[in-house]
Amino acid sequence: PETLSPIQEEILALKRQRNAVILAHNYQVGPIQQIADYVGDSLGLSYQAQRAEADVILFCGVHFMAETAKIVNPGRTVLLPELAAGCSLSDSCPADRLAEYKAAHPGVYVVAYINCSAAVKALSDVICTSGNAARIVSRVPADREILFVPDQNLGQWVSQQTGRRMRLWPGSCYAHVQFTSQAIEKIRDQFPGAPVVAHPECVQAVRDLADEVCSTELMISFARKHPANEIIVVTESGMLHRLRREVPGKTFIAGPTDTCACNDCRFMKMNTIEKVRDALKTLSPAIELPGDIRAAALAPIQRMLDWSK
Ligand code: 13P
Ligand code: SF4
Repeated sequence: PETLSPIQEEILALKRQRNAVILAHNYQVGPIQQIADYVGDSLGLSYQAQRAEADVILFCGVHFMAETAKIVNPGRTVLLPELAAGCSLSDSCPADRLAEYKAAHPGVYVVAYINCSAAVKALSDVICTSGNAARIVSRVPADREILFVPDQNLGQWVSQQTGRRMRLWPGSCYAHVQFTSQAIEKIRDQFPGAPVVAHPECVQAVRDLADEVCSTELMISFARKHPANEIIVVTESGMLHRLRREVPGKTFIAGPTDTCACNDCRFMKMNTIEKVRDALKTLSPAIELPGDIRAAALAPIQRMLDWSK
């Protein structure tokens, strides 16, 4: 068993006292992942949030993820350790601009990547995550024209996977677009024979170099199955913690950028172990949502959960 620090022990005691469940995204820092009840990708976290029975869901991730938890399970208190933990991708598609686009293009079918605000979800027909995007898009009626928001890189990849033409919203993840083909080629030269696994939010030139393009959760199964002992992981650095823990005995090499040996999402890293403790102590910051937005955002999320079963 792993040894825990005093603050981690304190959090586990508070968790019992508050009847809380701790959900953490794969990009959270190691000490948070270590004390979480569940660590996973956006899809797995949505299912976990929906079925949570504890009074409190302490969500260690970014704002849109905690918001999604509140939408699917409104009876719980949903806490986000740092309310300012946003997402550049989510910010690249403001709800008023999407509403304008829809007004100018009536009848368009909006597939929204889960990395968007509740207000954008409320304007969408179905939600997807990186783990189910191709499956969701392939279920959209063939006679409908699709607008994919907000990630143009994931959208382009899904379009290539499914053969389905889509209009792409011009958004991107500031962290994943920092990976370049030059930087990945360089690390591949250093570790010849190591397969490259990349997140679909990376640009096409990087995805083209990858042996596998997949969601963070699918990176775990890829790493387990692949015979290689060294694997290059092109996504946010928190993923390495999860991989090293769950696939021991293999070496995971962080995908570098042109300027850094690995890549952090500054929003994901705003949650700290101290803020996790404080959130449980004070039961804040809590996610609150207007009822009409919640109801409108639930329908496309529920459609996704049903379609990806
Ligand atoms: P996953 O759903 O693959 O974990 O991705 C979430 C995310 O924010 C990627 O940047
Ligand atoms: Fe958003 Fe990118 Fe951070 Fe994921 S890694 S939360 S997409 S900014």
